[in-house]
Amino acid sequence: MSCNRECVLVSGGAGYIGTHTTVALIEAGYDVVVVDNFSNSDASAISGVEKIVGRKIAFHQVDTCDRDALKRVFEQHGFNSVIHFAAFKAVGESVADPLKYYQNNLVSFMNILDLMKEYQRPNVLFSSSATVYGDTDTLPVTEESPRQPAMSPYGNTKQIAEDVLRDCCRAYDAIYGIALRYFNPIGAHPSALIGELPRGVPNNLLPYVTQTAAGVRQCLSIFGNDYDTPDGTCLRDYIDVVDLARAHVAALARMLHHGMKDKYEIFNVGTGNPVSVLELVNSFIEANGVDVPFKISGRRQGDVPAVWADTALANKELGWKTERNLTQTLRAAWAWEKHLRNID
Ligand code: UD1
Repeated sequence: MSCNRECVLVSGGAGYIGTHTTVALIEAGYDVVVVDNFSNSDASAISGVEKIVGRKIAFHQVDTCDRDALKRVFEQHGFNSVIHFAAFKAVGESVADPLKYYQNNLVSFMNILDLMKEYQRPNVLFSSSATVYGDTDTLPVTEESPRQPAMSPYGNTKQIAEDVLRDCCRAYDAIYGIALRYFNPIGAHPSALIGELPRGVPNNLLPYVTQTAAGVRQCLSIFGNDYDTPDGTCLRDYIDVVDLARAHVAALARMLHHGMKDKYEIFNVGTGNPVSVLELVNSFIEANGVDVPFKISGRRQGDVPAVWADTALANKELGWKTERNLTQTLRAAWAWEKHLRNID
């Protein structure tokens, strides 16, 4: 089967950013083929997407590390572009089990690139992360800011994958790549039909906040209030996942419409606004009128004091900017948590 309209393969399309991007792509008129092995999601994510877009989507339960299975997807569908999300993302787990991360995150991406080369599918968008900047002292960070040595195997997989992509774009005429460096994605689709599905105890701040508000966790720990920041808690750049999804649509259009200035490009995707942990928690409480018990604990190992994006390049070159404000984002996150927990 080939696709009628411009078609895109989304690997990891049942995940948090993958589901939102799949919706944004379909709403922008693309045909989408999703592959996911459900290692960190389940079929409810796909049915959530289908409810939002009002139709079935092409889905294959495939592990992108399984080259033969992935090859069958390339043979079956005529997409020209791939958005590669499929990866593990728990920093602590990557420290405990680095081989799991190097194997999964790198083999899957190399399979994608190898098959793109074999089947002459030119365009790839790669999910990178602000983690590649490490503990930077140039703030806000631009795409030119030097990458610091990775602080975890997870972070290292992002740096290595960026380098693999850069080298493939240089070496192979038919491969074009864009790496999007995400800052801190938060929130959920306004329909509350898709959102983040953390397994076990959340590592990230906002899922911990929403679970505490829902009574699933008793008390949020704020990791350190003695940083050299205005209120002593860490500063991050929290980007609404729906805005982030739209950045993928903009980057894809740039590739398809021959707007790239280089065969390999990098864009920061953030808001450009630093928000402290305390501000985020208090804004959540205010936006939703719910209580979130919290206490100050010690610093978490590996946290950088502050990182936020210079978004000028993405704004100018992708013609993209954020549309959702923090209150809307925090309300959507709470609506999603209530949906998951059947809270009225
Ligand atoms: C983390 C990862 C980053 C990854 C990103 C993906 C680390 C060091 N970094 O970013 O590599 O790309 O997730 O989403 O793990 N916080 C609390 N209490 C909590 C949880 C977090 O105070 O229960 C604080 C943290 O100390 C940090 C901020 O909230 O200051 C944001 O934390 P988090 O959501 O985990 O994101 P990052 O650490 O920025």
